[in-house]
Amino acid sequence: MIPPIYSPAADRYDNGMSYRRCGRSGILLPGISLGLWHNFGDTCPLARSQAIVHYAFDHGITHFDLANNYGPSYGSAEETFGQIMRKSLRPYRDELFISTKAGHDMWPGPYGEWGSRKYLMASLDQSLQRMGLDYVDIFYSHRYDPNTPLEETLQTLVDIVRQGKALYVGISKYPKETARTAYRYLEERDVHCLLYQGRYNILNREPEDEGILKQAQKNGTGFIAFSPLAQGLLTNRYLEGIPADSRMAQGGSLQQSVLTPDLLARLKRLNALAQKRGQSLAEMSLAWLLRNEQVTSVIVGSSSVEQLADNLHALDNTRFTDEELKEIEDNRN
Ligand SMILES: NC(=O)c1ccc[n+]([C@@H]2O[C@H](COP(=O)([O-])OP(=O)(O)OC[C@H]3O[C@@H](n4cnc5c(N)ncnc54)[C@H](OP(=O)(O)O)[C@@H]3O)[C@@H](O)[C@H]2O)c1
Repeated sequence: MIPPIYSPAADRYDNGMSYRRCGRSGILLPGISLGLWHNFGDTCPLARSQAIVHYAFDHGITHFDLANNYGPSYGSAEETFGQIMRKSLRPYRDELFISTKAGHDMWPGPYGEWGSRKYLMASLDQSLQRMGLDYVDIFYSHRYDPNTPLEETLQTLVDIVRQGKALYVGISKYPKETARTAYRYLEERDVHCLLYQGRYNILNREPEDEGILKQAQKNGTGFIAFSPLAQGLLTNRYLEGIPADSRMAQGGSLQQSVLTPDLLARLKRLNALAQKRGQSLAEMSLAWLLRNEQVTSVIVGSSSVEQLADNLHALDNTRFTDEELKEIEDNRN
């Protein structure tokens, strides 16, 4: 018999991953999900991207987070994911929870970004084609559009569910007041908002400071944290300089100017605390998020299998003493 190119680990649901209920819904998400914003575009080797996705699935990561413009180039992370689906993951489609989004810049002209019905409908069709899927599990409005009537964006989400192109919908980075309107509008049309996706990590507390976490919990909407490692700041990546192969060295979404001497000193103190706990800084940073029941899942990025393996160890210890929590508070800013 010709061996299959890939067969997933038989113990993938039995080797440490825990699943958490997503708000008031039937969906369980893995504590750690994988995001394909960076490291999966057509500038990255397909073999490495595939190895990371396989490692994730082999270790119980069932949720993969994408968006129309992830790359670079735009669309190419979805193409990469589509290739992996076709080559190896297709038989496991029903074990996967796949997201995509539209809202940010995607194609030229007036219909290629923000929140119009025209843009969202066309973008989702393109995403499905790139990934070779009939439907996504969740489709997000990627950002609030102040110039489009919110009802137009929300009704499009409702219609996308009715069309069967997404099973669930979510919102990302919506201000609290607009999230309130979105939750109500969708609920009144029997489309529950499954997830709020927001930036949340030890250094960035907006969702707790602005009441987004509480609001989502009250609405029965799960909260999924993006950039849980502050794009790599909350890891050992920058403790001894800026490695040539790092996100910061590429000078895109993570600028060198953020790494001030004060921030570096705080990161070093957090790293010392992590070591005392027997964790890497990345593990402790993810564990800190996962200790909070209001957080359904954290979406990690990873540029190697080794990083993802390290991140998965966060699940081994998510308990913190009051002293440890205080030390983290003292070093947040
Ligand atoms: N809704 C939105 O608007 C939005 C916005 C941003 C992101 N997201 C989603 O959230 C996902 C995660 O965002 P993110 O990539 O910024 O997440 P992140 O987990 O905060 O940062 C990931 C980066 O940290 C470094 N890293 C990860 N694990 C490490 C480890 N164990 N040790 C050392 N370094 C490690 C890697 O940097 P190097 O590449 O330098 O190795 C990696 O690329 C995205 O892929 C996307 O799906 C959504």
